[in-house]
Amino acid sequence: MREIRIVSDPCERVAQLLVEAAGVGANIVLAGGETPREAYELASEADVDWSEATLWFGDERCVEPDHSDSNYGMVSEVLTSGIGKDRRPRVKRIEGELGPEIAAANYETELRTELGNTPRMDLVILGLGRDGHTASLFPGKPAVKERRKFVAAVPQPGMPPHVPRVTLTLPVINAARNIVFLIKGDKKAQAVALAFDEQSNEQTPASFVRPVDGDITVFADELAANELVKRQECLSE
Ligand code: 6PG
Repeated sequence: MREIRIVSDPCERVAQLLVEAAGVGANIVLAGGETPREAYELASEADVDWSEATLWFGDERCVEPDHSDSNYGMVSEVLTSGIGKDRRPRVKRIEGELGPEIAAANYETELRTELGNTPRMDLVILGLGRDGHTASLFPGKPAVKERRKFVAAVPQPGMPPHVPRVTLTLPVINAARNIVFLIKGDKKAQAVALAFDEQSNEQTPASFVRPVDGDITVFADELAANELVKRQECLSE
């Protein structure tokens, strides 16, 4: 099922889904970025036992885990460090500091060892860049076309921070039971329209996120959904 939910509080909605998934011991993939960060801060306030859950990363910047650009560092700061030791989730960190190729190979091995050769995440949280990227799948970059590996190196990302990245690929994202996009603000309106209105297109990697047999829900505020609504109103006329 595919749903586009235009809501005033997308971060709260996603925080609720994250907490629910954590409470049932799910395999959860987290995104980086300011909007997902806000959802994690809200989720950290919930009284839930995360100890059965496993947190994975949709992508990572190739920096030390305590670097300000680290997605692992951000999640540690706003979410996991505030959880009581006996209620913390398992966290599967991408070792970005080893460089994109080695870190990607190591994460692929960890994924396959842990979840087998057809890994099915329970919940994948994704952000959307104004250029249509998601995770670290940037327009025109080889990782978008990767269909065999589950984890790819991204030596040259398409947006700041301009450090090499590691990203999950579309096969593992699209195998998930639940994919949730979290998007806010008018800067994303064009990308939202291209990602969720039209056919998949090379310049908008997020448009290739289509669950094989799971659900996808886009939580967007009015500003982010503005362009999509205009287009669909034209179509419905
Ligand atoms: C990253 C993210 C990236 C992010 C989007 C949205 O590592 O940067 O995984 O895909 O989710 O760029 O980020 P903002 O919410 O900050 O715009």
